[in-house]
Amino acid sequence: MRVLIIGTGYVGLNTGVMLAYLGNDVTCIDLNQEKVKRLQAGEVTIFEPHLDELFAEVHQKMHFVSDYAQADIPNQDVIFIAVNTPSLADGNADLSYVRMAAESIAENLGEKFVVIVNKSTVPIGSGNWVEAIIREHYFEVRNAKPNGLFNVVSSPEFLAQGAALHGSFYPDRIIIGSEHEPSIERLKELFGPIIRQDFEAPACLPRPAGLSEVPMLVCDVTSAEMVKYAANSFLALKISFINEIAQLTQKIGADVSAIAKGIGLDKRIGDRFLDAGIGWGGSCFGKDTAALVATAKDYHLDMPIIRAARDVNYAQRVWVVDRLQEELKILKGKHIALLGFSFKPNTDDLRDAPSLDISRLLVQRGAIVRAHDPVALDNARSQYPNLGITYSDNLEFTLDAADAIVLITEWPIYRELNWESIPPVPVIDGRNFLDRDRLTKLGFTVIGIGR
Ligand code: UDX
Ligand code: UDX
Repeated sequence: MRVLIIGTGYVGLNTGVMLAYLGNDVTCIDLNQEKVKRLQAGEVTIFEPHLDELFAEVHQKMHFVSDYAQADIPNQDVIFIAVNTPSLADGNADLSYVRMAAESIAENLGEKFVVIVNKSTVPIGSGNWVEAIIREHYFEVRNAKPNGLFNVVSSPEFLAQGAALHGSFYPDRIIIGSEHEPSIERLKELFGPIIRQDFEAPACLPRPAGLSEVPMLVCDVTSAEMVKYAANSFLALKISFINEIAQLTQKIGADVSAIAKGIGLDKRIGDRFLDAGIGWGGSCFGKDTAALVATAKDYHLDMPIIRAARDVNYAQRVWVVDRLQEELKILKGKHIALLGFSFKPNTDDLRDAPSLDISRLLVQRGAIVRAHDPVALDNARSQYPNLGITYSDNLEFTLDAADAIVLITEWPIYRELNWESIPPVPVIDGRNFLDRDRLTKLGFTVIGIGR
């Protein structure tokens, strides 16, 4: 099939590479010309495990453009909208990029029917809104109705960064929000190899044992949009739940890891997303929980559970700094080494990363902060040049003369550090990740979360 992807960020690029690997003719459009140039030259623009290997295999067959006139919209079978929808100050999602994408599609529609899939996380009801924008704009520029030329479907993605390609090839489910049979059929065909799991697995991404079929749920557009919000809010809630429990376990002298295991063995609860720590960050949980609360407000509804999940999450960041202050007594002038800066391992993404708030709070209290990360520092330097901390690619320098160490991101290199060579100081293990026994034997005071 001929597929156009609008937006080559984490979602767009991974989806495009996956569809190209499955044999589709994929064009990616991004308004960022610099990004497009790099992609044309075969360079991956984001850090994502195995993306470079797979991209090397398929990029010659893909097309990268930055101008809609070159995107060949009249000949596409499916168009994915995967542009960003950042949070506005009031929690609502900024839809200006989705609007631009929709208007550009309208300007370039041809005579052939095309399915437009909204993959960007948009507020409930946006499927209809995208449809309305395309209709209106088409009428504006052509003075005709685009009847029968397109249909808008919602197919939210659930891919998690750091495992995005794995999630694209082997998703837990595919959700199709549409009541339009021809669109549903076309997407069933496009996703057929994923649903049946009958494609040859990429060498770098072997198929999980026992996976022979991926369930596909077809529902109305609004329900599909809501699935995404409900799923992300539930996962965010699960993490905040264990973090709330952790705050109590550390008071009563219990170990939150044992509790997570103990409740996780109950199949109704499940053992995933119960790792206590400094909480969630990333492009989705914060944004989607805020958007859900904001949407509910439009209907005079409160979402107290989701609001509480947010409060608990952001309080964890403050807790780290308070706990550090309790340990060091005075933060002013103290050297604090941050290990990790990305919002989770295996990504260079800094959106809503706990490291940012923790750095700001530490600087406010007068600490001198050095941060290390194996892949995220280029982004940190370009996106957050004024945090008032030092970004250091050199671990030795980061840790030199540190008065305390905070593990922010559970990159394996930090567990495998030559801790023997570091003078023992207090260590806040923000992810309950380090080898506590080993460090304690070496004289470090290890402060985990909920232990
Ligand atoms: C995005 C959204 O943030 C998220 O809400 C949704 O669920 C999936 O898509 P992501 O792919 O991580 O997530 O976003 P980002 O990495 O910011 O990529 C968006 C891309 O779209 C960027 O490369 C940007 O240059 C491009 N873009 C943006 C356009 O091509 N056109 C625009 O009008 C706006
Ligand atoms: C999430 C969803 O998982 C994905 O389905 C959706 O499409 C986008 O949002 P992502 O943000 O990439 O994906 O990462 P995820 O692995 O879900 O982790 C989010 C945050 O939660 C990270 O900061 C991580 O460190 C934190 N986390 C995760 C915990 O603190 N504890 C856990 O047990 C799990």
